[in-house]
Amino acid sequence: MVNTIFKDKVAIITGSSSGIGKAIALSFAVKGTKVVINGRDSDRLNNTELEIKQVTNEVLAVCCDVSTISGSKDLIDKTIEKFGKIDFLINNVGISMRGEMADLNPEVYKTIFESNVLGAVYPTIPAIKYIRETKGSIVFISSLAAIHGLPFLSAYSSSKLALRAIAESLRIEEAKNNIHVGLVLVGITEIEDHKQAVNFDGSMISLESRNNKKAQSREDVAKTVLKNISKRKFISVQTSLGKLNSFLHARFPLLVERILIKNIGKFNNFTK
Ligand SMILES: NC(=O)c1ccc[n+]([C@@H]2O[C@H](COP(=O)([O-])OP(=O)(O)OC[C@H]3O[C@@H](n4cnc5c(N)ncnc54)[C@H](OP(=O)(O)O)[C@@H]3O)[C@@H](O)[C@H]2O)c1
Repeated sequence: MVNTIFKDKVAIITGSSSGIGKAIALSFAVKGTKVVINGRDSDRLNNTELEIKQVTNEVLAVCCDVSTISGSKDLIDKTIEKFGKIDFLINNVGISMRGEMADLNPEVYKTIFESNVLGAVYPTIPAIKYIRETKGSIVFISSLAAIHGLPFLSAYSSSKLALRAIAESLRIEEAKNNIHVGLVLVGITEIEDHKQAVNFDGSMISLESRNNKKAQSREDVAKTVLKNISKRKFISVQTSLGKLNSFLHARFPLLVERILIKNIGKFNNFTK
């Protein structure tokens, strides 16, 4: 059943040379989907292309920066040139940050919004006309940090919350065209060794590895994304904590705020 949804379809996954995006691309490939992978570092992208070729030859690697209008246009144009259609666009690119708002170099907000918001909007706009033809899906990868603004993650939380408004507007506009628009709120997930985030002063910092039981696997996220598409769901919230937070925040936002204030210490070293 699921295979007919994905077989011979074309999926673009932004930021898929590593991490969660790569796991999503591999999951599509296993189901017979033609995949378009993307990243800025050509060596990393080429290595991932070779890995996916172990599963399918129907893979296209487009090296570009989706936080630029020209890079995103290139991604969509090259996909159409090679495969002639787009069924699924997964807006996965995103970067995290850390720092108390009072200490932030204001440029941190610019960096985060360019990557997390414009990096999703820029590929989406030129892709819409093609996804109308296939009645396919546009999925935005958000985070549990978007349920309630989190301390030390203000730029990240707000950028991921912005994706919700974008998805809501798009759902209404495209309802008549039968485009499915999904939003996946990802929980704490294992990370690549080289994963970086933006520090309060605007410099890049390497994140500590998450080889602990609290982090879910990247394959778990990929599974949620493919389920979001196959069920044409709007919002998929990961993990029990995420579901509880979502439930409480919708009904008792000030209670959630009180819990966060009480536990603020836990967020000091917490980035995603
Ligand atoms: N990991 C978590 O715990 C977690 C939790 C909640 C939500 N998320 C969200 O899940 C998504 C993926 O996270 P991740 O942990 O897998 O990230 P990651 O390991 O840092 O991987 C990011 C990927 O995107 C590429 N990339 C970054 N900026 C790009 C750009 N402007 N244009 C094109 N490619 C770009 C990177 O390659 P290059 O650097 O070579 O471009 C890399 O392949 C993000 O949106 C993140 O916010 C993650």
